[in-house]
Amino acid sequence: MDKIKLGVIGAGRIGKIHIENIYSLNENIEINGVVTNNEETINWLEKYGITQIYKNANDLIKNDRINTIIICSPSSFHYDQIKLAASLKKNIFCEKPMDLDLNNVIKLDQIIKKSKIKFMLGFNRRFDPNFKKVKKNIVEGKIGFPKIIKITSRDPNPPNLSYLKNSGGIFLDMSIHDFDIARYLIDEEVVSVFSSGYTFYDNKINEFNDIDTAITTLNFKNGTMAVIDNCRKVSYGYDQRVEVLGSKGLTGCNNKLHNDSYLFNSNGSHFELPMDFFIDRYSESYVNEIKYFIKCLKNNMNIELNSRDGILSTAIAFAAKKSLKEKRLVEIREIINL
Ligand SMILES: NC(=O)c1ccc[n+]([C@@H]2O[C@H](COP(=O)([O-])OP(=O)(O)OC[C@H]3O[C@@H](n4cnc5c(N)ncnc54)[C@H](O)[C@@H]3O)[C@@H](O)[C@H]2O)c1
Repeated sequence: MDKIKLGVIGAGRIGKIHIENIYSLNENIEINGVVTNNEETINWLEKYGITQIYKNANDLIKNDRINTIIICSPSSFHYDQIKLAASLKKNIFCEKPMDLDLNNVIKLDQIIKKSKIKFMLGFNRRFDPNFKKVKKNIVEGKIGFPKIIKITSRDPNPPNLSYLKNSGGIFLDMSIHDFDIARYLIDEEVVSVFSSGYTFYDNKINEFNDIDTAITTLNFKNGTMAVIDNCRKVSYGYDQRVEVLGSKGLTGCNNKLHNDSYLFNSNGSHFELPMDFFIDRYSESYVNEIKYFIKCLKNNMNIELNSRDGILSTAIAFAAKKSLKEKRLVEIREIINL
């Protein structure tokens, strides 16, 4: 393709990470505009020489000097922004989830396919070196047939209430990363889902029909089972662990700690705390995913993380929501016809 000329929609927690990484890659890419109305962010962007600030995402998408859009706005805006960008044949990298409504995600998949643009969904964990190694161990048959996956995915603190209100709830906003990583590790589709959940931290989120703690069980077509444990608030950092039990062995990865040193003494064995949150724990994955997106654009390659993954992960999230509400196992075919 021609030179990559980016526009970034939203420069909050994740938008800033992508902007920093794009600059650090030194790939001769222009960032020709960012949507934000935050004064501090506008000052921060000046460090990178970005002075084309837009108040309105549509104006940025329509700009002829931009051929690729990075969508980092709140999830409830993704649908309109993807739709407009695809209609103007602009390539898109979009943060998860694609939308908060499964029917909209299905519509977007059709729009994207028809427009023939390149589209990538930001499931960054697939690009984490530890998870990649776990996947490699499975693919190379080192643990035999994978029977049970256990994913622990707990945040140190919940986002603020205004974010939570528009997030789509714990399954669509948070667990969706884990649903995707389970699909990625097993390379198979989920057929049924059971979930349970509770609010321990702040009952205000019940007003948004949300919870802060959940356990979801996924049953895959090939018999593999996954147990995913999510919590919006724990006292000891960002808890991100994966374990896969196979017929011939076990593979997994532990938390990344602030420091790998340890201390053993008469009081016990002491280790450093896990890293703080996604910004430090998954820093390599964010660099790797953007590198991959750029490589696919430059070399006209198929992107192997796209709107189909958006549909399937969103369908699992909706099955989990339904299971919680109806207190029963929900078949994926009740949610979506594949
Ligand atoms: N992949 C990950 O690890 C990860 C981590 C965090 C968030 N996310 C996803 O990224 C998206 C943004 O999350 P965040 O945590 O950065 O949120 P945030 O609230 O920190 O930032 C959102 C940004 O979007 C801007 N914005 C608000 N309304 C807008 C609109 N209508 N059009 C354009 N921009 C608008 C805000 O000014 C702000 O700069 C969400 O979809 C979220 O699910 C992904």
